[in-house]
Amino acid sequence: MSEDQLSALTEKILACEACHLKDSRTKIVPGIYGPVNGLCFIGEAPGYYEDKQGVPFIGRSGQLLDNMLADIGMKREEDISILNIIKCRPTTDEGKNRTPTESELRFCGERWLYKQLSILSPRLIVTIGGIPLKFFIPSAAVTKYVKKAFDTDLGIKLYVSYHPAYILRNYNLMEEYSEHFKDIKNLYDKLLNEQGIDQPKKQVLGSHSEQKSLTDFFG
Ligand code: URA
Repeated sequence: MSEDQLSALTEKILACEACHLKDSRTKIVPGIYGPVNGLCFIGEAPGYYEDKQGVPFIGRSGQLLDNMLADIGMKREEDISILNIIKCRPTTDEGKNRTPTESELRFCGERWLYKQLSILSPRLIVTIGGIPLKFFIPSAAVTKYVKKAFDTDLGIKLYVSYHPAYILRNYNLMEEYSEHFKDIKNLYDKLLNEQGIDQPKKQVLGSHSEQKSLTDFFG
């Protein structure tokens, strides 16, 4: 049932022409869906590589995220969802990545992210960097709230983490970053234990790269 709802919603997202970001995007990036009632990482918006491939968090940031997940025995899609607040890449006049505006975030987030979350109904959200944190808790600053967990108005627990691109620019924080993932695993396990359930897993046909090469092959 939720699979059908998610595919119907994704089709709508993929047809979205509701704002000016449609003019600069190459591909819409709806996100990666893991199990329902699971764990969901939320970033701000697609960048250059994501826009080319229609997949969130690829490139060096995505690799770091995947490595950190592997360290706690998790894989995107099988164990976690990865969504962005904004589904299309915001660019400068020169075609570079830019930070989304407050109104772009509200517009796209309310239009699509909230609907994705209401179907996925995650037990735990992890905000990737300051922008998604502010989207959920407007008064919060990542430097003050990092490594902490909060209850949100959506009734979902939220854990505050850094953006992997920030860690790639500040290698001295790598150890702390890997602590975040241990925290996330512990907190998630605790939430599942409290409800007496095992970690939900989704059956996935191969890895994303295998899927991509098949798609490339068959066109
Ligand atoms: N940064 C984000 O916030 N999202 C992506 O998909 C890639 C980089």
